[in-house]
Amino acid sequence: MSAWLIKGARVVDPASGRDETADVRIADGSITGIGSDLGDGKAEVIDADGAIVAPGFVDLHTHLREPGREDEETIATASAGAAAGGYTAICAMPNTDPVCDTSSVAEKVWALGRETGLVDVRVAGALSRGLDGAVMADIGEMVRSAARVTMFTDDGHGVQDSLFARRTMEYLVAFDAIYAEHCEDAALAADGQMHEGDRSAALGLRGIPAEAEELMAARDIALARLTGCRLHLLHVSCARTVELVRRAKAEGARITTEAAPHHFTLTDAALETYDPLMKVNPPLRASEDVDAVTRGLADGTIDAIATDHAPHAVEEKDQEFSYAPPGMLGLETALALSFTQLVEPGHLDLSRLVELLSTNPARILGLDEQGSLEIGSAANVVVIDPSARWTVDASSLQSKSRNTPFNGRELTGRVVHTFFRGRPTVQDGKALNEATV
Ligand code: DOR
Repeated sequence: MSAWLIKGARVVDPASGRDETADVRIADGSITGIGSDLGDGKAEVIDADGAIVAPGFVDLHTHLREPGREDEETIATASAGAAAGGYTAICAMPNTDPVCDTSSVAEKVWALGRETGLVDVRVAGALSRGLDGAVMADIGEMVRSAARVTMFTDDGHGVQDSLFARRTMEYLVAFDAIYAEHCEDAALAADGQMHEGDRSAALGLRGIPAEAEELMAARDIALARLTGCRLHLLHVSCARTVELVRRAKAEGARITTEAAPHHFTLTDAALETYDPLMKVNPPLRASEDVDAVTRGLADGTIDAIATDHAPHAVEEKDQEFSYAPPGMLGLETALALSFTQLVEPGHLDLSRLVELLSTNPARILGLDEQGSLEIGSAANVVVIDPSARWTVDASSLQSKSRNTPFNGRELTGRVVHTFFRGRPTVQDGKALNEATV
């Protein structure tokens, strides 16, 4: 069967301004109709009364771990997790082993993504060789490669050398490519383990001050103004960073930002048990920061929700807090956390949520086939049950790793179907895990 009729759902597509109850017809890989009385022809009918149909989600920030740490995640397992989470495109971060700093690594990751065929795997290239922050990576080659890289970052590290940041931005301008920053001043962050504040003092853990993020964000905004480069700030976590971005946008800066679900869901209070699953970088912040990130998502200051999906092996996470690596799984819980934390309490409406999870990230990456429900375009579609209550069970995730801080948490909102290029990758809440191209 290669045709489906999704009947009676609320169709939310901010790209076209659509928010109405309608049927959606998918045939031969494309959206062939949106409206009523489409007729089911030979299509398989999905009764979607009470459900939401939206463009498939696009994650700007996914750590795939392949090449190098296939014991933690592979492109195939991350793709399956992404599909389960309602994603039809993900952007692979370059901090693999080897680092994605050449066209050959970029093309390899991109090709493995295509082979898996469950989501569109886009690739972010490194800014510097081996993420050393000193020698520029093969940026031009990566742009021109089959992977067509448009975003560059040393994520995991902030670029410490301001002149290197400036020169790299100047170079990226030639390709209209994006300089994406993990905002962290390493000297200020020192060997910090958690957010610096009363709690870090009480717990006896070295803190990372919010200013470590704020300072680098301010520097990069200034350098983007100087160079004209497109700037994307990764995983914004602090109130003052949100404010800086708000002001820069008001002044017309070419800047976009993202926030991760854990940064609008958890505070540094979660560290009180010294549970390494709560360790992440940037760290979980104070409740004022969570509130500011939430406001930023609602008012347009923050453009996208990005998972920062960061798989880690059980034996590495299960160590004394200071030895455990930072990072949390994100792909399979992002929709439900966003729904539960942002939509249910009324911070933002469904249309804004779809903008944050799909429309805007697709625009940022320049993905024509993603982020909208246009008749005639590739059917990258998600169907959500907004009333489903479910409990996160780490052991049943598609990801190869288990490091979710949300195990056992009850959430609202579930992905019921995902279609990638017109083929189901998730059906009735079950991942199909088969290549679709
Ligand atoms: O917590 C994090 N984990 N933050 C990062 O920036 C990198 C990531 C990882 O690769 O594990």
